[in-house]
Amino acid sequence: MGARNKITVVGAGNVGATAAHWLAAKELGDVVLVDVVEGVPQGKALDLAQAAPIEGFDVRLVGTNTYDGTENSDVVIITAGLARKPGMSRDDLLKKNAEIVTQVVNEVVRRSPEAILIVVSNPLDAMCQVAFRRSGFPKHRVIGMAGVLDSARMRCFLAEALNVSVENVTAFVLGGHGDTMVPLPRFSTCAGIPITELLSKDQIDAIVKRTAGGGAEIVSLLKTGSAYYAPSAAAVEMTEAILKDKKKILPCAAYLEGEYGINGLYVGVPCKLGARGLEQIIEINLTAEERIALQKSAASVQELINVLGI
Ligand code: NAI
Ligand code: 2OP
Repeated sequence: MGARNKITVVGAGNVGATAAHWLAAKELGDVVLVDVVEGVPQGKALDLAQAAPIEGFDVRLVGTNTYDGTENSDVVIITAGLARKPGMSRDDLLKKNAEIVTQVVNEVVRRSPEAILIVVSNPLDAMCQVAFRRSGFPKHRVIGMAGVLDSARMRCFLAEALNVSVENVTAFVLGGHGDTMVPLPRFSTCAGIPITELLSKDQIDAIVKRTAGGGAEIVSLLKTGSAYYAPSAAAVEMTEAILKDKKKILPCAAYLEGEYGINGLYVGVPCKLGARGLEQIIEINLTAEERIALQKSAASVQELINVLGI
């Protein structure tokens, strides 16, 4: 075993390849990029490896169409999936991506039985549930990326509205990754000051709405795909928190067993990430209105789980 960490990224598309880029630039470990398309993971890994002398990072980058070489990965980021095609219903896409995630997880767990899985594929919360059930891993080793992205979007919009550094702004988003996500302005701050002290209700409402539609806004601009810079950066922030045992509190999709009154379901909540993966779920008291919004979001995740029958 080498001294470096090993990270497998499954899916060498926009999110996966860009994640490999951030991982390498931060020297978080050796990276294996896996995809079903012949040549693409190999080509992207080779291209990125050739940026190393320029950018000055020392990590090994390998691309493959099999899972050979992924053995004993510390973290596996799963971005494999299909985009919705004309004529395909949401349920068709759900089932297709569940098949893909199942296949990926089967290959991964056999070779990396101790890995921590970070799921990115959509629909996110349902794909986490698929990865959790199919891997047989404990819940602290199957975590979903959505909240870091959703809250980063909100932070970006807040910093713009306040004309301050993005570093001054924190934002808090609960719930599933979708239209029903629950941004919480009263826990969002600028230099420690609740944003409710600094912005009008109308301004905050507009930012909350834009955050919930943040993914769709990018799709409507790109037209042929969805966001990938911020999503991949978000998955890499989670990876870094784990590999460096930072005990960092980040909003992630976690398997809830009673927390927030939700049982047996992946939903976004504040999580402490460290070497063991998900080390703690942080529970806070919600207002009645916030609790109802979270229950509604969880119900929309449950609907997908019912379609999948898992
Ligand atoms: P993309 O289409 O650029 O890349 C997906 C890649 O997965 C393709 O290269 C494809 O060949 C590969 N793939 C398909 N089946 C596979 C299999 N069985 N094994 C290995 N690889 C396989 O899509 P993009 O933009 O990279 O997005 C990836 C996924 O992440 C999508 O499901 C997308 O909706 C989701 N996503 C989730 C976000 C979140 O917040 N959780 C944010 C952004 C994207
Ligand atoms: C996003 O929020 C598509 O889930 C993806 O950008």
